[in-house]
Amino acid sequence: MKTIHFDNIDSTNTYLKNNYRFLENMTFVSSDYQSAGKGRNARIWKSEKGKNLLFSLLLTDDYLIQQYKIISILTSFCVIKTLEEYDIHNLSIKWPNDVYVNDKKICGILLEATSSSKLDCLIVGVGINVNQKEFEGDYLRKPTSMINELNKEINIEELKIRLFKTIENNLNNIDDDYYSIIKEYDYLKDKEVYANIDNENKKIKVLGINNDYSLKIEYDNIIRDIEAGEISFHNEKD
Ligand code: BTN
Repeated sequence: MKTIHFDNIDSTNTYLKNNYRFLENMTFVSSDYQSAGKGRNARIWKSEKGKNLLFSLLLTDDYLIQQYKIISILTSFCVIKTLEEYDIHNLSIKWPNDVYVNDKKICGILLEATSSSKLDCLIVGVGINVNQKEFEGDYLRKPTSMINELNKEINIEELKIRLFKTIENNLNNIDDDYYSIIKEYDYLKDKEVYANIDNENKKIKVLGINNDYSLKIEYDNIIRDIEAGEISFHNEKD
């Protein structure tokens, strides 16, 4: 494992996109602050300086790249295992890879890939809310953080070391059977939610995460398996 840390950067994901050619497989890049942090669906990921754990992991190993479907959900699972060590409970994965505590998001993950003729690398960007108490923005439900859950400040450096080791360990054992454990952390299972699918807003019933890490859903009397890029979830009808 190699680690790089910045006080300030545009985005740890962007840094790896620009520099992956010169870096080794399993390089972790973290930063105290990101001036242009990226979230999923082209959203901005805002984070107060020095309050949260922001990092990206570079994977250039061909075998790991081929496992991209499990990589993001396995990273969420590693976040859960690490947060459980801090006595945070009621954790779950909101497919494809958000980590929730009860009904509030505590961690987001952005998986990116760069390709020329083949996939050159995977970049797994992770933002965990650690010591930030207030979250500005238009949320139906405000996110949470470790400090809000535990009422005490967390040493981010220690959390980082623990999580990096857990991720490295699990990726080194990527062929283990994770599905039987991961499916126990399925936040959306059996919930009815609004989603945009095939450019239409629909109310769908989630049947659960499949063993290939796609999601089984039901709507209009059809049962369908979907991949992460094929759906976005909404809070309301539109
Ligand atoms: C989401 O929208 O839920 C995904 C958020 C991912 C944020 C992390 S913070 C570190 C890394 N660098 C980025 O620019 N984004 C990811």
